[in-house]
Amino acid sequence: MKSDEPKTSVLSAAPVPRRWRHEVELILIPEERIARRVEEMARQIQRDYIGRETVVVALLNGTVMFLADLIRHLSLPLRLDFMGVSSYGLGTESGDLIFTKELRLDVRGRDVLLVDDILDTGRTLSRVLGRVRELKPKRIRTCVLLDKKSRRIEDVEADYVGFEIPDLFVVGYGLDFAERFRNLPFVGVLYPRVYKQVCKRLNQAAAKRKQPAKR
Ligand code: PRP
Repeated sequence: MKSDEPKTSVLSAAPVPRRWRHEVELILIPEERIARRVEEMARQIQRDYIGRETVVVALLNGTVMFLADLIRHLSLPLRLDFMGVSSYGLGTESGDLIFTKELRLDVRGRDVLLVDDILDTGRTLSRVLGRVRELKPKRIRTCVLLDKKSRRIEDVEADYVGFEIPDLFVVGYGLDFAERFRNLPFVGVLYPRVYKQVCKRLNQAAAKRKQPAKR
């Protein structure tokens, strides 16, 4: 059932495009490597889901690129729906989990493929799995592009994993830092000063909002 062995990514030597050189320190997984792996994952999923009533459930917002690339390689009569869930605060640490959108499609008796961009502590996936199980699907399998195994708190694993990655805060290919950098076509790491500057700005803005209004 498991996908072929996830590809453990080493730090790539790919040069950072000029446009991003000021903010991106390194490319962890280049665009072409992501494309190849996503295609492999799709082939595996296709074999496992053939002849089934498939509903792909993608978690917003980070799955946007991964999902689009994955499902275009799936020649299956699937349905698609989204769940909105957000776990990170505005910085790099997990915050409280909030559901922002529920499923619209009925998954009862159907085969769900739950898609997320990254499995980190596992809090999101285990909460979402609990929620989806209540809707009585026939079967649920989980698919993530990135897996940060070393950060796991919850006892949860994905059935299909694109890449195992080290404990680095990564952005791009749908993943954000403070809602930015989702549009990078690769998975990369920002310079520490970028994280620091943005966190500082966010903290200042939060402090300002907390101050009582002057009369
Ligand atoms: C990220 C990511 C996963 C989750 C993983 O979502 O998309 O859903 O965190 O972290 P966990 O395993 O520690 O729970 P985020 O809340 O940042 O929302 P986003 O997809 O909108 O970026």
